[in-house]
Amino acid sequence: MSDKHSTLDNLSHEDRSFAPSAAFAAQAVAHEDLYRRAAEDRLGYWADRAREVLTWDTDFTQTLDWSEAPVAKWFVGGKVNAAYNALDRHVEAGNGDRVAIHFEGEPGDTRSYTYAQLTDEVKRAANAFESLGVSTGDRVAVYLPMIPEAVITMLACARIGAIHSVVFGGFSADALRSRIDDAEAKLVVTADGTWRRGKPSPLKPAVDEAVANCAGSVDNVLVVKRNGEDVAWTDGLDLWWDDVVPAASPEHTAEGHDAEHPLFVLYTSGTTGKPKGIIHTTGGYLVQNAATHRDTFDLHPETDVFWCTADIGWVTGHSYVTYGPLVNGATQVIYEGTPDTPHQGRWWEIVEKYGVSILYTAPTAIRTMMKWGREIPDGYDLSSLRVLGSVGEPINPEAWMWYRDVIGTNAGKNGERKDEPTPIVDTWWQTETGAHMIAPLPGVTATKPGSAQVPVPGITVDVVDENGASVADGEGGYLVIRDPWPAMLRGIWGDMDRYRDTYWSRFEDMYFAGDGAKKDEDGDIWLLGRVDDVMNVSGHRLSTTEIESSLVANSLVAEAAVVGAKDETTGEAVYAFVILQREPEGGEDVVELLRAHVAKEIGAIAKPRGIFVVPELPKTRSGKIMRRLLKDVAEGREVGDSTTLADATVMAQIADSVRR
Ligand code: WTA
Repeated sequence: MSDKHSTLDNLSHEDRSFAPSAAFAAQAVAHEDLYRRAAEDRLGYWADRAREVLTWDTDFTQTLDWSEAPVAKWFVGGKVNAAYNALDRHVEAGNGDRVAIHFEGEPGDTRSYTYAQLTDEVKRAANAFESLGVSTGDRVAVYLPMIPEAVITMLACARIGAIHSVVFGGFSADALRSRIDDAEAKLVVTADGTWRRGKPSPLKPAVDEAVANCAGSVDNVLVVKRNGEDVAWTDGLDLWWDDVVPAASPEHTAEGHDAEHPLFVLYTSGTTGKPKGIIHTTGGYLVQNAATHRDTFDLHPETDVFWCTADIGWVTGHSYVTYGPLVNGATQVIYEGTPDTPHQGRWWEIVEKYGVSILYTAPTAIRTMMKWGREIPDGYDLSSLRVLGSVGEPINPEAWMWYRDVIGTNAGKNGERKDEPTPIVDTWWQTETGAHMIAPLPGVTATKPGSAQVPVPGITVDVVDENGASVADGEGGYLVIRDPWPAMLRGIWGDMDRYRDTYWSRFEDMYFAGDGAKKDEDGDIWLLGRVDDVMNVSGHRLSTTEIESSLVANSLVAEAAVVGAKDETTGEAVYAFVILQREPEGGEDVVELLRAHVAKEIGAIAKPRGIFVVPELPKTRSGKIMRRLLKDVAEGREVGDSTTLADATVMAQIADSVRR
């Protein structure tokens, strides 16, 4: 074993692999032959899927036009309406009484919408938006909490061909203003506020401030009454949803839009300061969403209850709350609040109450639940769960195993366990990819804890070296996508040069994802985090994720974040920030214990130069750890822009701990 590959070899030492159970495989919607079909004729495969998962007003004449690469046109000539596919057609097929959405508000209020009711609501909203002068191609900014009106608004826009730009409700007035201005939004849909940790939390004031300072594109602000708090009001600008939408007609005919008609813009942060407005179009986006939502989660729409815990402010909430589940006619749960309100069992209570069968969440949430202790989920009946998904960041094997062992085998609140744990599906994708790209298929793929493993059928990903050459199995490099895919971004709003530069200039004819990855001996893919998080220590490539995993595997540690800090001698040095689960026994030095632990697990080369015990880690509102800020601390610099942190005081707490 050469030194150069020691860390990669170490990750490949994961030799656990869990074959699907015969019982699961026997009822699974996805089969091995999807891979074969896609490999034989990739475009033919996508054309078939497109006709299978969507109802087209006009069939397409060409599956892919790549003549203007890297801007793709999929399903050329096809016409399709997203809202019709998510709503009307299910009612027409006789499923109008099926529940589309079970809404659970943070204070405990609930509302359920059948497909027939949701279709009516969306038609009313579509008529209302049109009466406010919104028409096809106009942009609508959406700044709403996780309430049914968020989904209704997105689908009403899609119905009339208006382009929604959802801005996460946790973003500041300034962030909202810059997004309204960049997209030149005509209408803003918001709420008086929401509920957070048992208290009313306002939203409208941020909209007031944003609209007052924006360039003037906004004609109206439509306000959903949610928490009932007093709000400032501007006549002629502000309108109550309740005054406008319920009064509108529930009759509205959905026209087919061109497959390449923009469906939405969603802003995401890039490596530079200005957020990028990622553009997605209608046909290809919906095809890949619906197909992956069905295959990756083994969706049986007649019986499953799906719950994706993501907020609609992020791409996961677009693809696997608003579009995928509804296009597939599924029943889903949406929840407004935090996992620990009013108690740390709230999520499991919701799973038990609605009989959630498919749960899709992020590793950071799983690790938080681990920290709270298994007694909490053990106290609920989670026997309805049959598929568990993960998304957003690499999932460390310990969290994966906990998810499987604690959540995936729960068969009752009295300690009953399932014989066969539920499959875990780790899904790799991005705002830019629009839908799952790398994920196992439950019932088909034998899964490995911590690996997203294989491209979904019809997708060609690879891991390449500096020069764009494929690496051999057992080696690491950069994750790329070789062929255009249906749900790919079509560009960056107002900045097509930036689109080419960011994604298509690093390697010739390949999409550069910005993630590091490795292939194991079986060719399975392991995501190693953003390339910017990969460290180089004395010429050895080390993954922050790998060291974090190793730290979290130690029973003393609850959470860990690792960064590479510049070092004159070694290039970079490893620094770790850890939240302890407990203090070591017998007064031993925890830092020395953990350094020795990492050295033993991975090798002396990975041993952190410094380990800081901290009370919290800096996380964005979507739960991503902002390692950049920790790098500033480790390098002794002034901490950079921390405005996107969920809790602004965290950096001060960390600085305090580090000083001590
Ligand atoms: C990371 C979220 C490892 C990755 C859907 C990617 C993941 C970025 C995974 C996109 C996963 C997402 N394993 N890393 N299963 N899923 N990522 O745009 O670094 O918010 O580039 O989309 O999240 O984040 P985004």
